Amino acid sequence: MTAFTEPSPTPLALLLLGQNSDSGSERGVECPGDLPPASDHSLVERAIAAKAALGNRVFILGHHYQRDEVIAFADVTGDSFKLAREAAARPDAEYIVFCGVHFMAESADILTADTQSVVLPDLDAGCSMADMANIAQVEDAWDVLIDAGIADITVPVTYMNSTAAIKAFTGRHGGTVCTSSNAKTALEWAFKQGQKVLFMPDQHLGRNTAVLEMGMSLDDCVVFNPHKPNGGLTTAQLQDARMILWRGHCSVHGRFTPQKVDEIREKVPDVKVLVHPECTHEVVLKADLVGSTEFIISTIASAPPGSSWAIGTELNLVRRLALAHPDKAITYLDSTVCYCSTMNRIDLPHLVSSLEDLVAGKVRNVITVDPQVTHWAQVALERMLELPAAVAATD
Ligand code: 13P
Ligand code: SF4
Repeated sequence: MTAFTEPSPTPLALLLLGQNSDSGSERGVECPGDLPPASDHSLVERAIAAKAALGNRVFILGHHYQRDEVIAFADVTGDSFKLAREAAARPDAEYIVFCGVHFMAESADILTADTQSVVLPDLDAGCSMADMANIAQVEDAWDVLIDAGIADITVPVTYMNSTAAIKAFTGRHGGTVCTSSNAKTALEWAFKQGQKVLFMPDQHLGRNTAVLEMGMSLDDCVVFNPHKPNGGLTTAQLQDARMILWRGHCSVHGRFTPQKVDEIREKVPDVKVLVHPECTHEVVLKADLVGSTEFIISTIASAPPGSSWAIGTELNLVRRLALAHPDKAITYLDSTVCYCSTMNRIDLPHLVSSLEDLVAGKVRNVITVDPQVTHWAQVALERMLELPAAVAATD
């Protein structure tokens, strides 16, 4: 992210600068909290005109981590779970424009009809966590579980942040997809199907859910490193484990530290720390509340006026929450942690370009999942959609 100087900083920028006046120099870099404004002001009018021209033929989904300029045009905003449901519930929309990242658009394509096109405004909007597991590695890992004699009693559970091929692997092997909203429910379901879970690709969501919500111990969890022979584990370790966690993480949430939680508590004694479960276990242990983006939003919405919050999730969402709730003191858990760079690839120029292409009859940047992959990935996604609704939260 490029830092820039803003003549009159927004309330959040002031908050951020105030919060970290000393720690910024300690780590050398600060994220100022604002993205540069769109350089071409006619873009807003062009987006309005293109959207109006398309009418009900287009439905725009916006993930909570998207930029304000994109969220302004979303028909619905949500976390990855809500957006998957919303995509599945729009059979009449010819075009689903997905303002999120690649794996989310793939899931939308799997859950929508063949007659619908899912458009990702920038094809480079990926997810570094999803990139930490590829299907060849997962197939190799399964062979390791077969050799250890535990594949038959292991149920794969894959986080939404994974490729369609890994979702298909999961469906084919009797497992389910989960999101941060329903990880506990998904694990409860999985442990009724088998004795062990292979959780991919986010080790932190898997560990946090197993230990803090399912009552397992850290000793029940092992980390499978796909870059090491046998995952870096002995056969005995694999046989003893209940949770086999893939060695993946989010590069944004992984940067929040327990020290930052201590610092903010020292500065603001009555602060409540609210973090996403992709944060490390050490951070989550020190937080007051942990939950998905939807949970974070609803917690702040129902918080009493005057309450103080430090939030550990992507900055676009935290900025919007701070601006939407001026009666509450909302700050970022660590102002050296910036936006999700891949989410932020979707900006107003890319959105306008996609919408204007559609108006002109040019359907570009379409995400199409191979039909063979679609079948089993759909099985895994539908297993997830059938799980009882839940919003993950841990005190
Ligand atoms: P949600 O499941 O809360 O939408 O999070 C998705 C994500 O990518 C978080 O980093
Ligand atoms: Fe992926 Fe992390 Fe960005 Fe979410 S915030 S899309 S997990 S890199």
